[in-house]
Amino acid sequence: MDATECLAGIRLMPVLALRDEAVALRLAHILRDVGFRALEITLRTPQALSILERLARALPELILGAGSLRSPAQITEAKDAGAQFLVAPGYTETLLAAVNAERLPFVPGAATGSEMLRLLEAGYRLQKFFPAETLGGAPALRSFSAPLPEVRFFPTGGINSERLPAYLSLEAVAMVGGSWFVSDEALQGGDDEAIGAAATEAWSLAHG
Ligand code: 3PG
Repeated sequence: MDATECLAGIRLMPVLALRDEAVALRLAHILRDVGFRALEITLRTPQALSILERLARALPELILGAGSLRSPAQITEAKDAGAQFLVAPGYTETLLAAVNAERLPFVPGAATGSEMLRLLEAGYRLQKFFPAETLGGAPALRSFSAPLPEVRFFPTGGINSERLPAYLSLEAVAMVGGSWFVSDEALQGGDDEAIGAAATEAWSLAHG
């Protein structure tokens, strides 16, 4: 299965940097109840892998992936923890070879036309566009995608509710990712209602 198939129908992906298992469990339940079917857990915290493993056991109905992938060693670790897909901020030839060997759906990142072409050449028709807002946002992505009709994009980085519709209106955008609707403050403060409300607002915007 490739990433396009694995993530078919997903329009908005929560991109989460998690440090606390109990908080992560609470958050994942809230997001699932709101309607999210897939979550990306970034490998940016020391706890990310054990949290991924815990979530995979507790919520098997969710499609869980590991993000911020940087090294071949992390591919095996993420797979062992239960990741069903991988996301990276870019790619290297080493990473592409290692992911191929593990046969896990992978969304590599591209920020230039040459990177997009290289990834297309390697068979990646779903590519992360990162950091989306810094690279010029939806207008830039529209320009990049015009000569690349085969590629679908997963823009992330600096996107929020105001910017989301412009991305999702592009034919080239399969789904958008972000963390703007998961407030750290609400999470730490245990304000599940606020988290649920923000997540519902984002989900409705993406699926309206
Ligand atoms: C990512 O890793 O994809 C981004 O950091 C998520 O972007 P955001 O936190 O700016 O929404």
